[in-house]
Amino acid sequence: MSAADAFYITTPIYYVNDKPHIGHAYTTISCDVIARFMRLDGKRVMFLTGTDEHGQKVAKSAESKGIDPQAFTDDVSERFRELTKLLNISNDDFIRTTEPRHRDACQALWKTLVDKGEIYLGSYAGWYSVRDEAFYQESELVGGKAPTGAEVEWVEEPSYFFRLSAWADRLLAHYERNPEAIQPASRRNEVLSFIRGGLHDLSVSRTTFSWGVPVPGDPAHVMYVWIDALTNYLTAIGYPDTTDDRFKVFWPTVHHTVGKDIVRFHAVYWPAFLMAAGLTPPRRVFAHGWWTIEGEKMSKSIGNTIDPHDLVSTYGLDQTRYFLMREVPFGNDGDFSRQAMIGRINNDLANDFGNLVQRVLSMVQKNCGGKVPSPGVDASLLAQEPLIADAHGLVERVRPLIVAQSYHKALEEIWATVGAANRYIDREAPWTLRKTDPDAMARVLYILMETIRHLALVVQPFLPTSAARVLDFLGVAADDRDFKAVGTAHALLPGRDIAQPQPIFPRIDTSAPAPGAG
Ligand code: MSP
Repeated sequence: MSAADAFYITTPIYYVNDKPHIGHAYTTISCDVIARFMRLDGKRVMFLTGTDEHGQKVAKSAESKGIDPQAFTDDVSERFRELTKLLNISNDDFIRTTEPRHRDACQALWKTLVDKGEIYLGSYAGWYSVRDEAFYQESELVGGKAPTGAEVEWVEEPSYFFRLSAWADRLLAHYERNPEAIQPASRRNEVLSFIRGGLHDLSVSRTTFSWGVPVPGDPAHVMYVWIDALTNYLTAIGYPDTTDDRFKVFWPTVHHTVGKDIVRFHAVYWPAFLMAAGLTPPRRVFAHGWWTIEGEKMSKSIGNTIDPHDLVSTYGLDQTRYFLMREVPFGNDGDFSRQAMIGRINNDLANDFGNLVQRVLSMVQKNCGGKVPSPGVDASLLAQEPLIADAHGLVERVRPLIVAQSYHKALEEIWATVGAANRYIDREAPWTLRKTDPDAMARVLYILMETIRHLALVVQPFLPTSAARVLDFLGVAADDRDFKAVGTAHALLPGRDIAQPQPIFPRIDTSAPAPGAG
């Protein structure tokens, strides 16, 4: 299989200084949606997530708990792995930066950069923020703090440097040639103006602590945590073995999804490291926005951090996935509010989609003996029915939106068809036809069932469990659920038994306790 049929998607690897929250769940779910979509669409997919375990921030967290850093990272990393299970994430690998395969990849990349004359020994004197794991220029500080508000400390130590200053023009040329490589456009502009402002050589090693990957040939130094962290994307596909099939197939297709706070690392440092090592820069870096909680910044000190476990147990998993993907245009900041969440569940999921399925399948149970009714017309005539034509075109319309990571628009598009189906059922009123024209009733119900089949197929990446239940109700075989099943060739067979439907999205009682309460 060639790179044209492949797709590589990554989440950031999460720092293990803290337990998972809604922000982590958000990125990971968004990547899961595109990974699932691409698989259903016939692509060979590599979906990577994992944990970022080295560096001063993690070392300090372990120290403050009086635990050895390896034992500490073993424990917290497991919580992130467990998060992928909780959220029904279909990742193909879970990488930890403390694994031997990763140390080998980092050291190989380092040696390549040294061999190419891109790394030299010097000494660093400047500001460092442990919270951001970032170096800052004096001119960037705001009121003595990092622009992010994090504390900074003065650091003076011997350090290896990467010749970042030499890469500005080539980075600009790369982004000129590949305008799609940073998204959304607001982030692209931010990156371009940062590069145009001039780049300084980057300190890429530290000597004042040892929790990191040792620099080859100079073990007094550990690698700067970001060069270590970014390399995870290469490790997981077999680097340094560039003849590895995974490396050849997936690397040219890599799409990094990150939060807006870590764009500079992914869109400036990372492509420069890669080009300097003779590797291609990422195909795309997409930076999403940040969630606030009921209008407030999420923070441990305010105590408003949302644990994904609470969301899932209060609202349900697919409901949580739906809300996060539907509520906010991907790339914008958004607010999580309980009211908005309940509104989405009760309106979009329970009333619009859930009810449609329930009404249609209950009518089939009651009036068609629990079997797929006969449409009474042949497939080509049926395909001309506007609602069926709409359903057949769904995947084609949704695909470019998913490719653009416009998840909210993809859901809007799907729900436009849900709306069309609801209007159709009201207009055709099959409950009336039952007495006046049973054949017409059968045709209307068949058209609705086929529409529901297509809705369930296309919504699988967002709502994997609920879509599977709908397809189960319809009796669609497990191997007939990818996008090849779109269209008349795989249509429901009249006479086949269908299951008794159960409500898929119960309405949420607005007086139910808030997540985490009690
Ligand atoms: N370890 C680095 C990433 C290295 S990737 C080579 C890191 N880790 S992190 O755990 O601090 O953050 C991971 C992601 O969570 C970031 O993309 C960040 O933007 C995201 N979020 C953290 N808080 C968030 C919100 N409140 N809302 C949305 N995403 C947020 O950075």
